Amino acid sequence: MNQKRILVTGGTGYIGSHTVVELQQSGFEVSIIDNLSNSNIAVVDQIEKISGIRPNFSKLDLLNKKGLFDYFENKETFDCVIHFAAFKAVGESVEKPLLYYKNNLMGLLNLLQAMLANKVNNLVFSSSCTVYGQPEKLPVTEASPLLPANSPYGNTKRIAEEIIRDTTNANSDLHSISLRYFNPVGAHESAMIGELPNGIPNNLMPFITQTAIGKREILNVFGNDYHTADGTAIRDYIHVVDLAKAHIVALNRLLNNEIKSNFEIFNIGTGRGYSVLEVINAFEKSTGININWKYSPRRAGDIEQIWADSSISNQILNWKANKSLEEMIISAWEWEKSLSK
Ligand code: WQD
Repeated sequence: MNQKRILVTGGTGYIGSHTVVELQQSGFEVSIIDNLSNSNIAVVDQIEKISGIRPNFSKLDLLNKKGLFDYFENKETFDCVIHFAAFKAVGESVEKPLLYYKNNLMGLLNLLQAMLANKVNNLVFSSSCTVYGQPEKLPVTEASPLLPANSPYGNTKRIAEEIIRDTTNANSDLHSISLRYFNPVGAHESAMIGELPNGIPNNLMPFITQTAIGKREILNVFGNDYHTADGTAIRDYIHVVDLAKAHIVALNRLLNNEIKSNFEIFNIGTGRGYSVLEVINAFEKSTGININWKYSPRRAGDIEQIWADSSISNQILNWKANKSLEEMIISAWEWEKSLSK
């Protein structure tokens, strides 16, 4: 049986690269397009070392509409696109909203037009729990109201879902599944791929590991006056490999025509929230390394607390997050140490 061909946009990125490995190990033929704005071409070599298969790679920006159309026209058709390519730093999006709206939304519009023009009918979309804003009721389910996002980043994900919904309604052959990620952390067990932010990390876990290894002087804990048990903000951290596996399940649901409507949405979280202090303490306990940290003012765009009700994903997708916070931490730490070798 000929291999199903999957196009992964943003496939050299953090979540994209882990998903490419899972795709290859599930027997799919993978092509990556990425503009390398927040990742490194060496990731392609690392993916090959892990899976033994080199994914096709083209450096391409989704804002280059002509280049994107040429790419699709010169390639054998794809059975599905998994779309990761987007900017994703909550704090940065508050400072640079137009950059986020242009990159994340124009890129999606170009991709959808290229898919329709080339009859590529399946899309898995990388969405985010930030579409919920600060939920009034926790845990959040897929039916929870989409409150105004606290950041332009979250708004781009909310608008993107509406664009995809409308486009699938207008084109009955097009089917899509949106996966609303919570907080992806950790790294592949090989420590050959992981989160590799360019410059100063926006996200908590890479900042913790870089502080632990001595790359960063001190970790700022953004806010200790939230209405949580210890005053610091709560998130639902999920191991990036658990998250990557959810994409394989969603992809197969599309390819096997199991989808029940043109556009389905799933929460991809663990259902357990941890505060910033709990993560720091868990890191120190798991690694025996003390983190130098101090309280700092809240970060613009941050919400106070969120964690997932993933029961719909558990039941419908038959997918569940398996890895513990300790496994997330250990894998993130092994990855950080591998960078210093
Ligand atoms: C987590 C907590 C910070 C850094 C992420 C992704 C986003 C989306 C949702 C997928 C917050 C605190 C952080 C630091 C800190 N995921 N923090 N000091 O903002 O929840 O967003 O998950 O789409 O793409 O970015 O994650 O790791 O930045 O912050 O105190 O140096 O850690 O205030 O409470 P966030 P984060």
